[in-house]
This record gives sequence, C-alpha cells and structure tokens, in this order.
Amino acid sequence: MIPAFVGLLPHFAAVENRMAEALASREPRVAGLITDLGHFHGKMLRPALVLLVAETLGNPGTLHYTLGAALELIHTATLIHDDLIDDSDTRRGASTAHTRFGNTTSVLLGDYFYTHAFTLVADLDYPELMRRLTRTTNVLCDGELHQQMAARDTSVTEIEYERIIYAKTACLTELAGAFGAAQGSDAQRVAAAAFGRACGMAFQISDDCLDFAGDPEKVGKTLSTDLERGRMTLPVLRWLAGDRTRAARLLANTSPAEVAALRAEIAGGPALASALDTARSHIADAKAALAGLPAGPARERLFELADFIVSRDH
Ligand code: IPE
Ligand code: IPE
Ligand code: MG
Ligand code: MG
Repeated sequence: MIPAFVGLLPHFAAVENRMAEALASREPRVAGLITDLGHFHGKMLRPALVLLVAETLGNPGTLHYTLGAALELIHTATLIHDDLIDDSDTRRGASTAHTRFGNTTSVLLGDYFYTHAFTLVADLDYPELMRRLTRTTNVLCDGELHQQMAARDTSVTEIEYERIIYAKTACLTELAGAFGAAQGSDAQRVAAAAFGRACGMAFQISDDCLDFAGDPEKVGKTLSTDLERGRMTLPVLRWLAGDRTRAARLLANTSPAEVAALRAEIAGGPALASALDTARSHIADAKAALAGLPAGPARERLFELADFIVSRDH
C-alpha cells in the first residue's frame, strides 16, 4: 500500500465494488474467469488520483467511485494486452492472464474490461465525461501503436519518447486528475489534470528505470522486457546519446546473453540517474500544479504521492 493511500481504504472498497458489478457476467464460465482475475489488485494509482483530488474539493462520492472504477478497468485492460504483447509471466505478484488462460482468452478479456469501463461511464449520463474518456482511450491506443512502430529505431528522440509516454500512460492519469475535479471549477480541473499528467510522465519514466534496476519480487511483475522488445525508453535514449553507432549495433543484437550484457551496462551507468532527474523535474511541475487546488490534508497526500513516484521501488 502506498503510504499516501492509507486513508483511502474505505473508498477503494467502494471502487472495487463498482468494478465487480461492472464486470459481472450471467454466464458462469465467464463469471469464473472474472472472479479469478479479481483476486489480484494493483496499486490503484488512477482511482486514488480521482479520490484524493475529489477530497481536496469535498467528499468523494458515487460519481468518483464510478469514474475511478472505469479508469482502473481501462488500465487493467491495457495491462492484460501489454503482458501478452511482452510475453511477461508475472503481474501484480501472480501469473499473467495469458499464461493462465491462453492468448486468445486474454485478448478477449482485455476487450471485455474496456467495454465494461465505457458502459460504467455511459450510464452516468454525463456526455462530457464520456467524451473525455473515449478521447483518452483513443490517445492511449495511439500511444501503444506508436511505441510498437518506434521499436529499435535509434532515430527516436526524447521529444518523441515524451509523446509516447504521454499517450500510453500520462493521458490516463491526466484524466484521473480531471475526473477527481469533475464537480470543481474549470481552473481546478485544469490544475488537477496538470498534476495527473506530470505524475503520469514521471511514473512511466520511473517504471522505465525500474525495468533496468528494479527487483521483480518487490515490483511484482516481470522486468527487463523493454530492452528485449527494443523499446526506446529514456534510460536507453540517454545511453544512446553516448555512442550512437555502437549503440545501434548493440541494440540490433537480441540474443539473451547480449541483451543481459547491455542491460547491465545501462543499469550500471549514468543513464539511469539522468533519466530519474527528468522524472524529478516532472514531479516539480506536478507539485507546482497543486497550487490550483485547495490546501488541506488531501492536498498534502497528493504531495506525498508525487514524492513516492520518484522514490518508489514497486
Ligand atoms: C503499470 O502501471 C503500467 C505503467 C503505466 C507503468 P502500475 O504500476 O500502476 O500497475 P498496477 O496497477 O499497480 O499493477
Ligand atoms: C505501460 O508500459 C503499459 C501501458 C500503459 C499499457 P510498460 O510496458 O512499461 O508497462 P509494464 O512495465 O509492463 O507494467
Ligand atoms: Mg509491459
Ligand atoms: Mg515497464
């Protein structure tokens, strides 16, 4: 449990109920599958953003539970598909969906999570919220495709990397901030969205660093897949800036021994620390955005959350 989230436990229970209701199937075979998956929880970062922002403006209620549930379902859908794409064995401390149920079922499951998230928000009857959700999902899919098309391409720049991580990760945390302030003023919504966006950028950069230097036991998921997949993450780009020709040659090599050697070289060099500095600068932006939300205990939790993102080991 992330320390800043401890006070959110009763709210998390409400969000999880919304998720379980949304995913319920009348078909026993399908229901069994969903129940099986429901045992594994992630950090609940996206619902927590909705709830903590809502708490700065009053009390979180049913609307926020539903919005938090929808975002967590979309996030989980992307993870189910991502683990299949990456062929990762472990997620949330357990075997991934495709290793347990097979690739076909896992593709269908990801779709199931997506569509039920949409239904949750469509039933709220707030067209603006639904519009934002569907637009964000478009950006998310765009980001996943973009990342795929940019694999192993040493012409990828840091600006392009920032576009990819905004699309695949930060647009969803941006929406979580905005959803938290759904009942606030326009200015509060803009501030909360900016906080969520900057946290999302930092979160993905720290995740990309953990892929090199993290402990899989603590993180609870398969690590070191980024290099194998040729993902041009910030640590790789910073390392590439040294000797592009040599780097391009090394990146083209995909034998397990070569990947392991390259991983050790990047993990032990200055590229990781430099990437983390960039994550910290996004966190400084995130904290600055909090000036647009009312001061109080909930805003303090948001400051703590921001610090956690760049100091985390899980
Ligand atoms: C993992 O997200 C994918 C990224 C965006 C880096 P989380 O680290 O939030 O995953 P869970 O929900 O806690 O499992
Ligand atoms: C985030 O990227 C995945 C999505 C936004 C779907 P990663 O590929 O780095 O996520 P992990 O490391 O597998 O959790
Ligand atoms: Mg992955
Ligand atoms: Mg990762």
